Amino acid sequence: GEDERERRIETALDELGDDVLILGHNYQRREIVEHADFVGDSYQLSKEAANADADYVIFGGVTFMAESADIITDDEQTVILPSMEASCPMAGMAEALQVDTAWAELTSMTDENIIPITYMNSYADLKAFCAEQGGLVCTSSNAHRAFEWAFERGDKVLFLPDKHLGENTAHRLGMEDETAEWDPWDPESDAAEAVENDIILWEGYCQVHERFREDHIEQVRADNPDANVVVHPECRREVVEAADVVGSTSTICETVENADPGETWAIGTEIHLTNHLSRWHPEVNVIPLCGEACMDCNAMRQIDPNYMTWVLEELIEGRERNVIEVAPEEKELAQVALDRMLEI
Ligand code: 13P
Ligand code: SF4
Repeated sequence: GEDERERRIETALDELGDDVLILGHNYQRREIVEHADFVGDSYQLSKEAANADADYVIFGGVTFMAESADIITDDEQTVILPSMEASCPMAGMAEALQVDTAWAELTSMTDENIIPITYMNSYADLKAFCAEQGGLVCTSSNAHRAFEWAFERGDKVLFLPDKHLGENTAHRLGMEDETAEWDPWDPESDAAEAVENDIILWEGYCQVHERFREDHIEQVRADNPDANVVVHPECRREVVEAADVVGSTSTICETVENADPGETWAIGTEIHLTNHLSRWHPEVNVIPLCGEACMDCNAMRQIDPNYMTWVLEELIEGRERNVIEVAPEEKELAQVALDRMLEI
């Protein structure tokens, strides 16, 4: 049962002591965040990984986050992902090989300098590709600064893979009239046309956040006229525009932390974080933006506490399970792309 599993995780963690550090993304299940040494957004987790001293970093999150932790930690440190099934579908929407081909087409259409920026939600080979082409990585908390960095060095930006974060960032910078969506595999989507714009958006999206709609906000406000709404920038443009606050998962946490007792906040992000906030801040009326209870990230949910127990107990037996190791030829360049982000 649950108590037995709790006891086993705690026993294993006691025994492993400072040898392991558990990092947990805000979307992880309650049992995972309760055992994490640090819980945060993807940017904060990459910072924590960079500063980690432990021999083993156990990542409660998805593959691209664990890969980034492997890139940022020292070579002697080992990163473990409790489930190898925890892959963010958005990260798979821009594969380095495809982007390479598309990039050749795009860059052949203009003499101007295009800088590629990839969202953290991408695999190491795409991060390496971006570094090689003079670009960098960003997360939802620093995308605007990454765009500014790029426009100081080039004329145009290709943003991958999340078109919504790209579009929302363009708005934040007052560049909404200079963006174009581009899908290299859609015959209707024309590279020559797209490249006339300053910001070119790759056709990728998060299937969890894309499900939030403007009428969810209208419904919440109709039911509760005092409700405030905070959403993640992976949501569609109309949803972000209609919300009161937009930001990364850590901004969402801070917004509820700083709310006055009795205030109502509707949360437009993955349902586990909404549930954590409601437990962590009982004085605030925290509600999901969409009551359909469908906003569950299947990739994040793969990190089952039973798998956490297993990887910890195996470590005690001297067996390293589910090690995430980025190929050395990608690691160096991907690190350049991540370091550029950590410096902005
Ligand atoms: P944050 O960087 O805001 O934590 O977001 C990560 C993510 O996967 C959102 O879907
Ligand atoms: Fe990927 Fe969306 Fe899940 Fe975040 S919530 S990990 S972007 S699928």
